[in-house]
Amino acid sequence: MPTPTIHLNERVAAMQPSATLAMSARATQLRREGHPVIALSAGEPDFGTPEPIAQAGIDAIQSGFTNYTENKGMQELREAISAKLDRDNGLSYAPDQVLCSNGAKQSVALGVHVLCGPGDEVLIPAPYWVSYPEMARFAGAEPTVVPTTAEEGYKMSPQALEEALTDNTRLVILCSPSNPTGAVYTPDELEALADVLRHHEDVYVLSDEIYEHITFDAEHVSFASLPGMKERTITVNGFSKAYAMTGWRLGYLAASAPIVQAAAKVQSQFTSAPSSISQKAGVAALEMDNGPVQEMVAAFRERRDVVLERLRAIDGVHCPTPGGAFYVFPEVSHYLGTTAPDGRRVDDSEDLCFYLLEEHNVALVHGNAFGTPNGLRLSYAASMDDLQTALGRIEDGFAALRG
Ligand SMILES: Cc1ncc(COP(=O)(O)O)c(C=O)c1O
Repeated sequence: MPTPTIHLNERVAAMQPSATLAMSARATQLRREGHPVIALSAGEPDFGTPEPIAQAGIDAIQSGFTNYTENKGMQELREAISAKLDRDNGLSYAPDQVLCSNGAKQSVALGVHVLCGPGDEVLIPAPYWVSYPEMARFAGAEPTVVPTTAEEGYKMSPQALEEALTDNTRLVILCSPSNPTGAVYTPDELEALADVLRHHEDVYVLSDEIYEHITFDAEHVSFASLPGMKERTITVNGFSKAYAMTGWRLGYLAASAPIVQAAAKVQSQFTSAPSSISQKAGVAALEMDNGPVQEMVAAFRERRDVVLERLRAIDGVHCPTPGGAFYVFPEVSHYLGTTAPDGRRVDDSEDLCFYLLEEHNVALVHGNAFGTPNGLRLSYAASMDDLQTALGRIEDGFAALRG
């Protein structure tokens, strides 16, 4: 029998695999071969899930709370999220305006898919989280990338937003604190963006606030809390980062009722609700004392300061101060167009990352993956010892480049 030709859906064939995961896979392979690789490429906290949350999951299993829940997520969790949005963000969403999903990633995908389709443009400031453009394309829409620079602190200006908007713009995706830069928009900066959008009434905003609790010297403001913005904003958040729950797969979106109903319809046909066990754990996370989160944030702050100081001491490296998340995004154009001691060319940040990985045993993620080829992302969700060793290797690696 001849093997059948596989005709993949065109949108699947066109989709780029995640560069973050690709880098981690290469690092794992090198480690398996015996290389002492330090991976600063992952997007997850290096902490365990706090005990009260884990215990709630165990209790759920032991008490037999292991059935399907309501598709939108169980009432108890949606009530807890509604209370959290009110308490932390000044947002009034009824539990019915909340949809729980298998991670914030699924909530972002649902938001993009229920609003956008062929002919629509999705405006995405770069550096962006790798999945946004792929989700837009998969919905049949066109991503419009708005570049930002290190000098601007990697934040989109109101002028840049205004210039990028067209009659076809359907959605703007904002991520603050940002993955991959750690940039946090100030309340005034968000208000200036909102002011532009007030003149474009058909444009929606998806505000990805998954790093909300990981902020240092910066105040987190929910975009939907700005005057007139709630009706046009989908607020996405989740448990992975603040509560070190990446494997539990729990996130949510909050929006106006028709959007939530549409997203719930898609979810009901594709995945149904997230795990009942994770939902119980999610309730415990929202009710828990914030101590473990604060400890984690304090550790991230200390590491950020060390990483920033050493990166900035490297000749030609520019790095704005990240106000949140656990990433720094140095601008490294000074080292592009150089040659490594083994003769390999380092023409872009992907070459630079593979050079640092293969010759100096440090895994980072190249800026091409985030739409900003002059930079690279370093995740400091790693021990201080590993960070110090990795930074020494990065310094040596840069110093050896000639060109
Ligand atoms: C900006 C951003 N949004 C969403 C997500 C998805 O998080 P979750 O684990 O809840 O799907 C991530 C995870 O890396 C992220 O960095």
